[in-house]
Amino acid sequence: MTRVAVFPGSFDPMTNAHLDVARRASGLFDRLVIGVLNNPKKRPLFDIDERVALIRDCVADLGSHVAVEAFDGLTVEFARHRGAGFIVRGLRAVSDFEAELQMALTNRKLAPEVDTTFLMTALEYGYVSSSLAKEVAQFGGDVSAMLPAPVAKALAERLSDGPRV
Ligand code: PNS
Repeated sequence: MTRVAVFPGSFDPMTNAHLDVARRASGLFDRLVIGVLNNPKKRPLFDIDERVALIRDCVADLGSHVAVEAFDGLTVEFARHRGAGFIVRGLRAVSDFEAELQMALTNRKLAPEVDTTFLMTALEYGYVSSSLAKEVAQFGGDVSAMLPAPVAKALAERLSDGPRV
């Protein structure tokens, strides 16, 4: 039996916490599809193609069983279309739990055949979030511990283009 999982998120941009979850999930599943949500309601710092390209760069060493794709609509439909029986999400702290529980229960109602699995974020990345990394970078702080090197570089370049955060 082939175990396929999707790892959905906004990834604006991918952090070391996301990458840690992707790396560990890649060891648990036969195929892992990282799904980057194209949400027209949000105005991301990186557009959908940039986010997909950055993640591909970051996960290049994880193996050919890891794919990165943009998606829109429901995560469970994305999972179904990819033949995935699992959704992977990272949990950092108790504060993540409530929203994640609500999402997992909603997704189970919509697609009972798709199970949500949680990986606890590594201790050293428990504080890391995309939005905080963007804020720190915006004010000139060092984000090298929070972001993979290609992402930190892309963020510095984007912020030097002018204020968009
Ligand atoms: O990185 P994020 O912003 O925490 O990811 C949230 C995401 C993309 C997983 C969630 O917003 C989502 O699944 N959106 C797609 C729409 C959907 O399926 N909504 C119902 C799930 S409760």
